Amino acid sequence: MLKTSHRQAASSCFQARTAAPPRHALWRSSSAQQQLRAVQCSAAEMLVGVGSSVPETYLTNHDLERLVETSDEWIVTRTGIRKRHVLGKGETLAQHGITSAKRALEMAGIAAEDVDLVLFATSSPDDVFGSACQVQAAIGARHAVAFDLTAACSGFVVALVTAAQYIRAGTFRTVLVVGGDALSRFVDWRDRGTCILFGDGCGAVVVTANPDSEAQGAILGMEMGSDGEGHKHLHCTYAGGGLKPLGDGPTPSSHAAYSNIYMAGQDVFKFAVRTVPAVIDGALAKANLQKDAVDWLVMHQANQRILDAAAQRLGLPADRVVSNLSQYGNTSAASIPLALDEAVRGGRIQKGDKIAMAGFGAGLTWAGAIVRWG
Ligand code: ACO
Repeated sequence: MLKTSHRQAASSCFQARTAAPPRHALWRSSSAQQQLRAVQCSAAEMLVGVGSSVPETYLTNHDLERLVETSDEWIVTRTGIRKRHVLGKGETLAQHGITSAKRALEMAGIAAEDVDLVLFATSSPDDVFGSACQVQAAIGARHAVAFDLTAACSGFVVALVTAAQYIRAGTFRTVLVVGGDALSRFVDWRDRGTCILFGDGCGAVVVTANPDSEAQGAILGMEMGSDGEGHKHLHCTYAGGGLKPLGDGPTPSSHAAYSNIYMAGQDVFKFAVRTVPAVIDGALAKANLQKDAVDWLVMHQANQRILDAAAQRLGLPADRVVSNLSQYGNTSAASIPLALDEAVRGGRIQKGDKIAMAGFGAGLTWAGAIVRWG
């Protein structure tokens, strides 16, 4: 039975699915049941809910002055950051993913059990096997498949585009996209070049099939790219450990470990100011839109100077650029949904507004999309 008004409005092309057996039984399904699951039509996606969550604990620039040789003035001038939230003792990234997901679903008016896919974009899961399943279980998305996706600070846009592909293909109807990171776990708190930048947090959006079968998708145009040659500029690599030769007795293996984040700041900065305008131009071209069609810039919050350069290139005034970097720092895959959540709940971004999104970061990776909200 359909449970929400949203569902009641759903296109008839999905109605065959409501008559199908419960999907949790499909692991022992016959081929006939599998065919039933595949009786779906392609549809356009729409973004209908957003939520976010950050840890309560935070560090100001003045706190960092006590850790490394830096100053509030240097950090604000060079980055725009004033404070960053970090996970407290015993706190997990998944907890914030769960809170973000619940808030996004509540705004969307969609029940967790109607979610088909939970995608968690993260480079710092609580478990090396991923955090998406923990979110899926905790919110009660019992019919959903869940997996993590890693594309560093581009992860949220990559996951959003991935969600849209599943909906357009008719594979899934509702996808919960979570973007979150806890890079404080990998920061060397003695390295002033990186420890001033990163903060922890999560954001989530609900993407669902538009009941209007004639509707255009919410992702109006997108462009993505990768350059593994740039890995040398930004990485957080496996540092070894964990190996124990067979027959070594009962001693448990040592724990494997990862290195701290290494970043060649200036190289990444140059990459970002070159790539972000290009990726937005590419997404605009694919959307067949001109720059003046963009209402808002909601891009990865890494450095205010990068935000300003992208806005200038788009010809957008400062009040059309969503920036909350000063309060959270660079939260990696969380930064775009975190900024989007504040702008939507604050009444700035309205239904129908066109948003230029761009993420960039480790990999190196980049991804841009022109997105219609609501
Ligand atoms: N406090 C004071 N001085 C500092 C600090 C600090 N925290 N950090 C560096 N400095 C010093 C340097 O040692 C250098 O001193 P020197 O001239 O005596 O050698 C001087 O300040 C200038 O250093 P730069 O590295 O040239 O400073 P820059 O203006 O490039 O700013 C920054 C550094 C903020 C890191 C910038 O390069 C940047 O934002 N880069 C992009 C980062 C980014 O966007 N990352 C996104 C991806 S993150 C991901 O994917 C996980």
